[in-house]
Amino acid sequence: MSTMLTVDNIVKVYRAHGSEVRAVDGVSFEVETGTTFGLVGESGSGKSTVARCALRLIEPTSGSSSIDGEPIGALRNKAMRRLRASTGMVFQNPVAALDPRLTIEQSIAEPLRTHTSLRRRALAARTHELLDEVGLAQAHAERLPHQLSGGQCQRVGIARALATRPKLLVLDEPTSALDVSVQAQVLNLLQELRREYALSYLLISHDLDVVRYMSDTAGVMRKGSLVEVGPAAEVLVSPQHEYTQRLLAAMPETPGAVPLPRAPRIPVERAAQQQWPPDAPTSASPTTPSLNENRITS
Ligand SMILES: Nc1ncnc2c1ncn2[C@@H]1O[C@H](COP(=O)(O)OP(=O)(O)OP(=O)(O)O)[C@@H](O)[C@H]1O
Ligand SMILES: [Mg+2]
Repeated sequence: MSTMLTVDNIVKVYRAHGSEVRAVDGVSFEVETGTTFGLVGESGSGKSTVARCALRLIEPTSGSSSIDGEPIGALRNKAMRRLRASTGMVFQNPVAALDPRLTIEQSIAEPLRTHTSLRRRALAARTHELLDEVGLAQAHAERLPHQLSGGQCQRVGIARALATRPKLLVLDEPTSALDVSVQAQVLNLLQELRREYALSYLLISHDLDVVRYMSDTAGVMRKGSLVEVGPAAEVLVSPQHEYTQRLLAAMPETPGAVPLPRAPRIPVERAAQQQWPPDAPTSASPTTPSLNENRITS
């Protein structure tokens, strides 16, 4: 199996007003091609910082990363732009991530204008194709972000991230701002898209259920360091590290949520096939919602 993202000993020290924050302190991991790597850890543990350093959205203090075998640090303008186009990022707050003055069609077209030579009809065609891929109706194209729900805005965010046909998506808390039923639709959409386009995901979430449902591999961050890495079904069901055990034990009880099963261990292949929410019918069941059933038409 090949490696889509290699993160090698990244350190990031923020300096502000004479003080230093060692946000990331020597983190290394790999995201295998076509898989999801889930990063968990308490707030402030450095998850977003390490992801931004990995894509060079911010400059790490030291360390390096490569995407699909290509080291990022050494790249100059044009090569860097090409690499940027091969990655996408989905953010936590879908409404704030969109320009309120742009229609949905303009928002989705924006990365295409920046990174491709598509113009007019080809641009419109690709934009409409993207609306369709994320389960939005063509009627949404002319609307403004405030005329859409949070879940619909996040679909627009996903369409923007997918616009340039990237190989790797960084999903930074993609569903934390959404309510539970909408979370399920967005997570299932992301799973479908990953399979359909052979994408690799770096998923950041404080929700261990979300990470376990989505991920093949999980990494646990604490105070800037990665304290545990392994198959998601093992790390997030039977963790070896005392900090991960405490993180699992501290998981809030969401009313109506299904408790996280602790035993027996779920094989990774099966964990990857599980439906969200965890009590949903399995993929073998004819009642499993498909991407089309997740489609929003109004
Ligand atoms: N631009 C910045 N300047 C100074 N300190 C920062 C900056 N961005 C983040 N930090 C600090 O770096 C540490 C790691 O922050 P980061 O946002 O990476 O954490 P996180 O794990 O993503 O947290 P959350 O789950 O709340 O999103 C925190 O202590 C944070 O306050
Ligand atoms: Mg964060």
